[in-house]
Amino acid sequence: VEVKHGKVWETVCDSHLDFNTASVICNELGCGQAVATFGATHFGEGHDLIWKEEFQCVGNESLLQKCPRMSHPNDTCSHANDVGVLCSGYSEYRLANGSTRCSGRVELRHGGTWGTLCDSHWDLQGAHTLCQQDNCGFALSIPAGQLFGTGDGYVWKGTFGCERNESRLRDCPVTALGTTECPPGREASVVCSGCLGGRLVNGTECSGRVEIQHGVTWGSLCASHWDLQDANVLCHQLNCGYAESIQGGAHFGEGNGTIWSDAFHCEGTESCLWNCSRMALGNPGCSPRDTARVICSGDLTPKGSWALQGLTPSRRIRLVNGTGRCAGRVEIYYNGSWGTVCDDFWDLSDSNVVCKQLGCGHAINATISAHYGEASGQIWLDDVNCSGNESELWECPSRGWGQHNCRHKEDAGVLCSEFTDLRLVSNSDCAGRLEVFYNGTWGSVCSNGMVEVTAAIVCKQLNCGDRGQLARDFAYGEGSGPTWLDHVSCKEQHSSIWQCPSDLWKQQSCDNRAEETHISCSAVPVTCEVSAFPDQEKLRVVGGEDGCSGRVEVWYRGSWGTVCDDSWDMADAKVVCKQLGCGSAVPVPGEAAFGEGTGPIWVETLNCRGTESSLWDCPAKPWGESNCDHKEDEMFLLHAIIFWKEDGSNCPTHLGHRPGPPISLAGLFFLASLLPCLGYSPLTHGL
Ligand SMILES: *[C@@H]1O[C@H](CO)[C@@H](O)[C@H](O)[C@H]1NC(C)=O
Ligand SMILES: *[C@@H]1O[C@H](CO)[C@@H](O)[C@H](O)[C@H]1NC(C)=O
Repeated sequence: VEVKHGKVWETVCDSHLDFNTASVICNELGCGQAVATFGATHFGEGHDLIWKEEFQCVGNESLLQKCPRMSHPNDTCSHANDVGVLCSGYSEYRLANGSTRCSGRVELRHGGTWGTLCDSHWDLQGAHTLCQQDNCGFALSIPAGQLFGTGDGYVWKGTFGCERNESRLRDCPVTALGTTECPPGREASVVCSGCLGGRLVNGTECSGRVEIQHGVTWGSLCASHWDLQDANVLCHQLNCGYAESIQGGAHFGEGNGTIWSDAFHCEGTESCLWNCSRMALGNPGCSPRDTARVICSGDLTPKGSWALQGLTPSRRIRLVNGTGRCAGRVEIYYNGSWGTVCDDFWDLSDSNVVCKQLGCGHAINATISAHYGEASGQIWLDDVNCSGNESELWECPSRGWGQHNCRHKEDAGVLCSEFTDLRLVSNSDCAGRLEVFYNGTWGSVCSNGMVEVTAAIVCKQLNCGDRGQLARDFAYGEGSGPTWLDHVSCKEQHSSIWQCPSDLWKQQSCDNRAEETHISCSAVPVTCEVSAFPDQEKLRVVGGEDGCSGRVEVWYRGSWGTVCDDSWDMADAKVVCKQLGCGSAVPVPGEAAFGEGTGPIWVETLNCRGTESSLWDCPAKPWGESNCDHKEDEMFLLHAIIFWKEDGSNCPTHLGHRPGPPISLAGLFFLASLLPCLGYSPLTHGL
């Protein structure tokens, strides 16, 4: 250490510089944290003057010159006492050996050499900072046990003294020192949530104006479709608890850049905003004043059961079997199970309430007689008689929950105005005039400003191969309906045409029919079926430990696929267990407890009685026609039950579960936060 006094650099006596002072020096030099102080033998002796005062820093001073000093006129310091300081320095880091960019073993570069971070103090807090720094969301877990290997090079011992609000690892003191060994299992590793592309600006860490990222461009988000459910997902994704409010927040500012008009439709159980269904096509833009905001609850701490109640609404509504979220059989979640609505007196004003409740516009059709298929299970409502002003279907007059004189062949359904669909109109399957269904009517799409990649996106979406061309010879004729859209601007990153921005939905978007879009896809659709497997019914369970538990998979049309959980129940599970020679069925907790499948979802609405000897004997919707997604792969959902101690200590006596609504990520965190008082470690038992 040398201190400049006038024009002369002076060394400092080791009795005049303590560890707190070393901390101030390291900080002032931008070198991280003080690690150690050394006597003169370490960095050699100086030759000029020696500083005469003792530094008495507290440690939080920003500059050495701000520290109090004390004179020692009679001291006997010589250059043999010159003090040296070792600072942590800033290490680069990377994640090694993970299956995604956002997980792996933590490696640090120190002195030009990469090595594994070995650290008994590695914790979620530090891991969180690292995840954020890497644009990987927040830390889900810090798995022990060499999940990501041991590495073969150096091992660096170190500590991450990170505070939650340090969003940059640079600001997060890292001590890196070479060591010769790292006890097995002490290699630091992390699994980040991996949620990208959402942030809050201009507020606090957990509140602000919502910004989302398309490609490399961040922009504000129009508030017109932003609701509490969407906000909840963003709050979870940012490790900020749940959404308290999406009102107000004028002080979060207006932003001055791009404004995106994406409408997210989250169910509230997604782990990332970008996993929610999303629609930009035809959406109106907005002024910077009408952009989305949110105030999240912040970190969930054990405050009581309100936290969980706030997260999973006990009543929900959905439309099933209609190939989109805005059409289908009406189903209501009540008292722990999904049930239907009977079609007695079912009309447009009832349907309107459903459409509004789902953010699906207004009702086009009120369908009766199980138009979208018969369900099984409860029939929750009958003789529904809405005025149309209700905001939730169960507010309408009816016979009361579970009171009915109906059968499932009377299941009610709805087609709402925001229901969209896509087709190519011609005599062949994978070429034709592009049409979209909106507001109850098929209409064409104008080609002004449209780029080639649009064709590929449409072809993929229609299962017509990965490539296609905009056909300029208009061979597929003129349409007669509305011309719904113009200036559709798709980019590579869009996975369906619904995600492409465009002008507003309008009855007449093109000036004339010659502007209509025609597309031909490169793939000729294969219509023959792969031969069936008459006596090779195949069934397996995957992801469990013993061949008798796991995700159910079935072999069909030459590949393994999964079973949708829409109506999966114990009777179905019973048949599977029997067929596999695994005894009787027991419920499985946890949403997709055995992981999501990746292949096709072959079967939906299985309806076994439980006495069948094979799953193939159970009534079901025709195989291969499922429109359910992998989140729903057969499973039992977890409903947590907390048995609180009566002493008001916010510590449960124990935790239980039963099948129920899906629990949110924030709910899981809340549960995990209860574990320490039960004597468990949230790190090993929690997530
Ligand atoms: C529905 O409610 C209206 C009053 O709001 C009433 O006049 C009508 O009779 C009711 N219909 C049925 C079927 O209950
Ligand atoms: C949708 O249809 C309704 C009538 O059902 C009409 O009032 C409305 O203007 C239509 N919207 C568009 C964008 O055409």
